Amino acid sequence: MCGIVGYVGKKQACGILIEGLKRLEYRGYDSAGICIHHEGQLRVLKRSGRISVLEEALEGAEGLDTGTLGIAHTRWATHGEPNELNAHPHIDCEGRIALVHNGIIENYATLKQFLTDKGHTFRSQTDTEVLAHLIGEFYKDGARSLEEAVRAALGEVTGTYGLAVVAGGEPDKLICARKGSPLIIGVGKDEYVIASDASAVIEHTDNVIYLNDNEMAVVTSDGMRTTTIDNVPVTKEIQQIEWSLEEIAKGGYDHYMLKEIFEQPEVVRTSLSGRINLRDLSVQLGGLGSIDRELIKIRKLVLMACGTAWHAGLVGEYLFEDLARIATEVEYASEFRYRNPIIEEGTAVIAISQSGETADTLAALREAKEKGAVTIGIVNVVGSTIARETDAGVYLHAGPEIGVASTKAFTCQLVVETLIALMLGRRRFMSQGAMEKYLRALSEIPDKIAVALEQSDAIKDLVNEYVDRDNWLFLGRGYNYPIALEGALKLKEISYIHAEGLPAAEMKHGPIALIHEGMPVVFIATRCTTYEKILGNIEEVRARKGRVIAVATEGNEDIRRYCDHVIYVPNCPAQFQPMLTVIPLQLLAYHAAVARGCNVDKPRNLAKSVTVE
Ligand code: G6P
Repeated sequence: MCGIVGYVGKKQACGILIEGLKRLEYRGYDSAGICIHHEGQLRVLKRSGRISVLEEALEGAEGLDTGTLGIAHTRWATHGEPNELNAHPHIDCEGRIALVHNGIIENYATLKQFLTDKGHTFRSQTDTEVLAHLIGEFYKDGARSLEEAVRAALGEVTGTYGLAVVAGGEPDKLICARKGSPLIIGVGKDEYVIASDASAVIEHTDNVIYLNDNEMAVVTSDGMRTTTIDNVPVTKEIQQIEWSLEEIAKGGYDHYMLKEIFEQPEVVRTSLSGRINLRDLSVQLGGLGSIDRELIKIRKLVLMACGTAWHAGLVGEYLFEDLARIATEVEYASEFRYRNPIIEEGTAVIAISQSGETADTLAALREAKEKGAVTIGIVNVVGSTIARETDAGVYLHAGPEIGVASTKAFTCQLVVETLIALMLGRRRFMSQGAMEKYLRALSEIPDKIAVALEQSDAIKDLVNEYVDRDNWLFLGRGYNYPIALEGALKLKEISYIHAEGLPAAEMKHGPIALIHEGMPVVFIATRCTTYEKILGNIEEVRARKGRVIAVATEGNEDIRRYCDHVIYVPNCPAQFQPMLTVIPLQLLAYHAAVARGCNVDKPRNLAKSVTVE
């Protein structure tokens, strides 16, 4: 997904911008570019491919290493293919204005026609270039100041943007604006670093200002002014970023994903900490305090999310119905708002999102709000849009997740759902005894995850036997059915192996036709009410000469008779098993991707935070 960095201050901008871009690499991108203000002119350099390619090109480029004002961008193509021309920054006809932009200008075709009629010619296929020309049109002949021109242009735009603009005639001014795409201003001493993501700012300062939708900032090295897009002054508070650079770095692991997989005992402990009270057998979630009265009245829950977070939602459906006895539905956020959904009184909507910026989830949330639902966020990134737009919420406290494939955020999403379900359940019908049993078992989960992680090397050896197979099946039932889906998604995402996840009983209704000699089939076959039935499904695969890999409960030696490989996880109540059974599947996907030489942290075609619909 696209990333923005900008600098205005007293230092040389170029190095700061390139470092910032590197910090944003994890978001996924296909091209990158930079613009530096140099002696009254804007010098632009863009390259398709990696930031290292741009860096190499910078070595021979003139006028890019001296300026103290600049903007830079990593692009993830939406309008127009990923190439140098379509990369940002984009400039107007005369090269007096340059801008970088995240989001989509929906009416760009109309604006392009308007500008073409006025004599503008365009170099790229992007919607963003149209905005650069539009600002240029309003700015030309000194008709308006830069900020007035930006304001006038944004007044004509339909769509979403996080953007940063500089002009050749303004050696010490950077303008940024936000509508629907995040933008953060890092406040340093005589300098400002603006970015679409805190990780590009944190090296310079942990004092930041979060722009809200429809806000704009005019930033110079000696100060900044914030207004709405319509020029109403806005006073912004400086906030502290909680994450350190060290937290963001790889911490000695080969990949961010592996580091994040191994962080799970710790982050799950953090996510639980201060929230479980074993003395009075309660769950304390401060973020839900403001909707305390509504919580008692909830009759139905709708969970909305995308990707891995949607799988967390599926587990949530079991948790909320089982532990809280509340009717629950799970929706793909991308489908929700196009269905004209029915939100009745007593419905609460829970948006689950690691980034808190996923456009589909945000749009679904807004639709639910419009229809009168109480909204709750289960979000990792503090201060993100979903976190701010929900009525109440619970943060994951999983720390920054850099690997594109979500791992630790997923387990923390399960933790938070469990906590909410237990809190609601206890208020409704759950006995003290049951609550105590669940809270004790939940507090043991971090240590049990650590035990599950000990299988990493064994999983690596196992995977090496099957790494040439192109089709895998993942099967589970009940609480572990969503984990089968998640195991298949992880494998697809990072190793590019085709994999399907299914409820185990569904196999006989079609997918069994796929089973052939040597095909790897992963069963989640932990001790639970459907264990015997799963054994039946395992037999069906064996009869067709498929290879069976089972994730089973520690101590179950008997299952070895039915399987080619067994990976053990510690025992725990069925409700909490997903937090353990997902661990070997994350490791399986990781080792498969490494064995196949894939770029684990930046899988092809994927983005960490998908801020377009
Ligand atoms: C993208 C990522 C997935 C993630 C999904 C939802 O597709 O590649 O890993 O699960 O977005 O992201 P969110 O930030 O809303 O959890």
